Parts: sequence; C-alpha cells; structure tokens
Amino acid sequence: MSEIRLRDWLPQDAPFVLEAFAAQDMSAQAAGPITTTQDALRWIDQWSGLENGHAFAIVAGDRVCGNVAVTGIDRHDNGWVSYWTAPRVRGKGVASAGLRLLTEWAFAERGLFRLELGHRVNNPASCRVATSAGFLVEGLERAKLRYDGVRYDVELHARLATD
Ligand SMILES: CC(C)(COP(=O)(O)OP(=O)(O)OC[C@H]1O[C@@H](n2cnc3c(N)ncnc32)[C@H](O)[C@@H]1OP(=O)(O)O)[C@@H](O)C(=O)NCCC(=O)NCCS
Repeated sequence: MSEIRLRDWLPQDAPFVLEAFAAQDMSAQAAGPITTTQDALRWIDQWSGLENGHAFAIVAGDRVCGNVAVTGIDRHDNGWVSYWTAPRVRGKGVASAGLRLLTEWAFAERGLFRLELGHRVNNPASCRVATSAGFLVEGLERAKLRYDGVRYDVELHARLATD
C-alpha cells in the first residue's frame, strides 16, 4: 500500500463514493441511500464550506480509499469522529492511518482538544481502528442505536490533545 495521505473530497470522486456505498455495511454511514451519481455528488458537496467540521478523502498514491471526518465541533473544542473504507482496501491499515492523520490535523491545525467516537459493539474492526489511533474506551451506551428493528450497544472512545 502506498503512503496514506488526506485531501479534500472532489467531484471526480463520485464514482468511488458510489462504489463504496454499494457495500451492505455502509448504509449507516450516510443519512440516506447513495445509489446514483447525483447522490454521490450531493454526499461530496455536503462537506464543502462546513463550519463545524471537516471530512477528508483517505488517499493511497492517487487512489481514493475511504473517508475520515470530524463533525459537530462545539465551543468546548470537542469533535465527533467517523470513518469508513471501501471493501477492496480493508484490512490493510488504511482506516487506522487515516484516523491517525485526522487526529494530528484536528489537534495541531484545527485546535481541537477532545475527539470522540462510538462504534457498535459488534464492530470489532472499528474498535481496533480507534484503539490503534490512541482513542481510549470511555464507556458503553446501552441499546443506543436501532437498525432493522435491532438495538445495539455502542462503545464510546475518546482521545485528548494531551494524551
Ligand atoms: C471499520 C473499518 C473502517 C475498518 O477499516 P480498515 O481499513 O479495514 O481498517 P484497518 O485495516 O486500519 O484496521 C482494521 C483492524 O481491525 C481488525 N479486524 C478486522 N476485522 C476484524 C474482526 N472481525 N474482529 C476483530 N478485528 C478485526 C484488523 O485486524 C485490524 O486490526 P490490526 O490493525 O490490529 O491488524 C471498515 O471495515 C469499514 O469501513 N466498515 C464499514 C463502516 C464502519 O463500520 N465504519 C465505522 C463505524 S463506527
């Protein structure tokens, strides 16, 4: 895998976004279905000019591999982190590298102090990504999310600028 870096999302990434959201486990990563080029372009456009957050494409060489974002930045300099990678690049350290780069950017460039994230307890890969980027476990939110009529516990992680 080439060196991982972050860059802003571009309209030409729409075919990649469409491909990535075709995966079954991606439906929770967007507010609605992404099944057309128009949907993908809207998904990309939502990030431009966002005042309380920023999303980056995770890129290896010239290949887009996934997304890492911090949203909901509040007046306490806290932010909420999320990430996903395309199925074809998973298991190669892409999400972990992307999250480490986002964390550096958020603390050093954006001036944040606390980054938070949560994953369903049946998502061990996401838990590994979080812990490998230094996000400590802070607790469990019981039955927080409901998908297809099933409720899931969510494990919370956070990393501080001073960790
Ligand atoms: C979760 C996700 C982002 C991981 O992306 P990735 O690029 O494969 O992540 P990485 O390769 O950096 O790391 C994956 C880690 O999980 C581990 N892992 C993968 N599947 C696992 C499983 N079933 N059980 C335990 N660990 C697992 C890998 O071994 C690796 O750990 P390591 O670094 O100790 O070897 C990706 O699967 C994804 O996008 N899933 C759908 C969206 C999603 O769930 N996003 C997170 C929402 S909280």
